Amino acid sequence: MKILGTGSALPKHTVTNDMLSEIVDTNDEWITTRTGIKSRQIITTERFEELAALAAQRAIDAAGLVPEDIDFIICHNVCNAYVTPSLAALIQHILGIKGPNCPTMDLNSACAGFIYGLEICEAFLQTGRAKKILFVCAEEVTRMVDWTQRETCVLFGDGAAAMVLGKGDNYLASKLTSTPMPEVIYYRLPCEPTPFETGEGIDTHIAMQLKGREVFRMAVTSAQKDIKDVVAKAGLQLEDIDHYLLHQANMRIVDAIKQNFDLPQERFHHNIEYRGNTSSASIPMLLDEKIREGVVKRGDLMVFNGFGAGFVTGAAVMRY
Ligand code: UT7
Repeated sequence: MKILGTGSALPKHTVTNDMLSEIVDTNDEWITTRTGIKSRQIITTERFEELAALAAQRAIDAAGLVPEDIDFIICHNVCNAYVTPSLAALIQHILGIKGPNCPTMDLNSACAGFIYGLEICEAFLQTGRAKKILFVCAEEVTRMVDWTQRETCVLFGDGAAAMVLGKGDNYLASKLTSTPMPEVIYYRLPCEPTPFETGEGIDTHIAMQLKGREVFRMAVTSAQKDIKDVVAKAGLQLEDIDHYLLHQANMRIVDAIKQNFDLPQERFHHNIEYRGNTSSASIPMLLDEKIREGVVKRGDLMVFNGFGAGFVTGAAVMRY
């Protein structure tokens, strides 16, 4: 597998910490010191699927292709207003990719979704079932939180990132894990009532709950191990890797992870300061930003690492 082109798209509305302090009992100092976040983009009037399709179109343009060249669309998305059809099918419609020979599907592996999605794309490319996959990670996490809960609403932002993947030898190693701990992060939507369900023991709607400290600890511990394991699996040394692109959940998490490695610290990229936590979109948005800045160049070696609700983790080594 190799990356043929990347793209991303952001909502137009930027929300600063000071703006949040007018909504909940918080302040810039707390958010900055505990998370590193200064601002984030939040969906207002945009339609989510159009934002995702814009990122997709930019990735197709960057690959020098046209939408009709795509023969599989895979999206990662935790939650959006459409439960069905899939976000992938909506993007196919918006981009005007005629069927029926471009299958579409969505995945959900929480904030580790980019790494999980890469693995699925690799499998389809390896078997020859697809030649040009459009892989989109798009999230509107700010629609999953309770905006009266300062513990969660200050952490997140919205955004979309996409890439076109084709056959190649640049996907060097990967590692995925899942440890059943649904209580550390979850969000429940109400289902439609039926005449048959009793409602007993069923919580209808619970906005996102997270045990922040537990996630923090697990994230740092798992990332340190996953990164070492996946680099060793690729037959490489940690110092061979040019870029470390980690899930942007908290600047303190990125700092704690990188401090464990005796490496030039600037190899650990971050943009959480002005994006917030965008779940599965965080790593590919960071990658697209660094490619467009000319920081990540063709031939460079990259490590991706993510973690999230499940509790799931993943890491991959890839050459750009
Ligand atoms: O992508 C996967 C999902 N992401 C995560 O799960 C994030 C991982 N965890 C974290 O990033 C951090 O644990 C948080 C940023 C969520 C929290 O940082 P913390 O240093 O673990 O703070 P805390 O939850 O222990 O809260 C410390 C204090 C509490 O007050 P008391 O009990 O010490 O009086 C909170 O009530 O900070 C208070 N607090 C706030 N104060 C101002 C919590 N949220 C806020 C806020 N503004 N927004």
